Amino acid sequence: MNNPIKISPSILSANFSKLGEEVISLEKAGADYIHIDVMDGHFVPNLTIGPEVIKTLRPLTNKIFDVHLMISPVDNFIKSFANAGADIITFHPEATKDTSKTISLIKKEGKKVGISLKPNSKIDLINNFLGEIDLVLIMSVEPGFGGQKFMPEVLKKTKLLKELISKNNFKVDIEIDGGINFENCSLAKEAGANILVSGSTIFKENKGDLRKNIEILRKN
Ligand code: DX5
Ligand code: ZN
Repeated sequence: MNNPIKISPSILSANFSKLGEEVISLEKAGADYIHIDVMDGHFVPNLTIGPEVIKTLRPLTNKIFDVHLMISPVDNFIKSFANAGADIITFHPEATKDTSKTISLIKKEGKKVGISLKPNSKIDLINNFLGEIDLVLIMSVEPGFGGQKFMPEVLKKTKLLKELISKNNFKVDIEIDGGINFENCSLAKEAGANILVSGSTIFKENKGDLRKNIEILRKN
């Protein structure tokens, strides 16, 4: 039985000068999650927001904060993102010396655990952990920036991952992130993704009609 499709808009494409209003608008527009891209200028060549900003957004909405940590080292920041109000904390295995330890640090904070695979990162990096995490985030662009072109080669990996999860009856969501638009969203779902992240498509298409864009991604 496939999990219902959820839409997780990435606020990386939002207007940072009014981030609070943008988060409230996303909730009103029917977003299921709020995807928060944290970048440290070290793991990826870009710098965005940290726990202090997330703390100010937390009281504005009850929507799930789907926090994507593109930072390394990552362990020493888990607690501050948990305290800031993250609900799902997703990290990259290349950002830690001990994936198991990072998973337990997130669980200790009572948060859901996600692991993210870059386009060239193999499923082998995570298949030993699928029984203890909540989400795998398949990157369909190189992490670091919004507005990049979708990389269809990750669909094969997505299908493989879906088979692995179904065969073992793991309770793991597959989230796909990067370059998702009205044309490729159905391919991502067919491959097994049940959570779609989108930044530029949601904020820019149809003159920025958030509700319309979220619904098209959910329905197509
Ligand atoms: C990229 C981020 C993505 C990005 C998605 O490193 O992880 O979440 O913001 O934005 P679009 O949908 O524009 O590719
Ligand atoms: Zn992301």
